[in-house]
Amino acid sequence: MIKAFWLMIPAYLPNPFAAVFGGGKPIDGGRTYKDGRRILGDGKTYRGLFSGIFCGFLAGCIEIWLGSKGFEIMGIEMPTFGPDYASALIVVFALASGALFGDMFKSFFKRRMGLKRGASLPLVDQLDFVVGAWVFTYLAAPEWFMSNFTTGIMLTVLIMTPLLHLTTNIIGYIIGVKKEPW
Ligand code: CTP
Ligand code: MG
Repeated sequence: MIKAFWLMIPAYLPNPFAAVFGGGKPIDGGRTYKDGRRILGDGKTYRGLFSGIFCGFLAGCIEIWLGSKGFEIMGIEMPTFGPDYASALIVVFALASGALFGDMFKSFFKRRMGLKRGASLPLVDQLDFVVGAWVFTYLAAPEWFMSNFTTGIMLTVLIMTPLLHLTTNIIGYIIGVKKEPW
């Protein structure tokens, strides 16, 4: 679980940071699709996209640096993001950008389903970025992906992510930054 979490940090951070720093010009420029509804909606902005990718990438860089120092958690050595620095940087960038492109892809389909910005689509809302991060990373570094995202790690991520999402939302609700506890 710790290894799965460690590998997913660059993909977990972009969404919350996009929510904190996002706003301004929407990526679809306010344009509508042929169905008359917005292409992506006002919830997908350039500022959110770039700041989110930047934060995930930065966290990944710190993890790569910690890894190079032989960083361990509870005696377990953490997996590395690649055989050398260049490939590791590509992997953390793929994880971070894939997360937000997955989220954007989901918004496109939510709008096609007639769902308004912010309307919830359970499970899809919680796993869109996981799938996006995996697809981008697989395309960028197939060998690294296959040897690190084993079936066990992937199943752990798929189960852990919605639970993590729920827990952070409940905490957000208790401390008053979120209106609903989900
Ligand atoms: N955000 C952003 N740019 C992005 C992604 C997110 O600015 N590329 C910001 C927006 O302010 C958004 C918030 O983060 O409202 C929460 O993100 P998310 O839940 O993904 O968007 P929703 O508003 O719920 O929109 P959607 O229905 O399209 O998912
Ligand atoms: Mg949402």
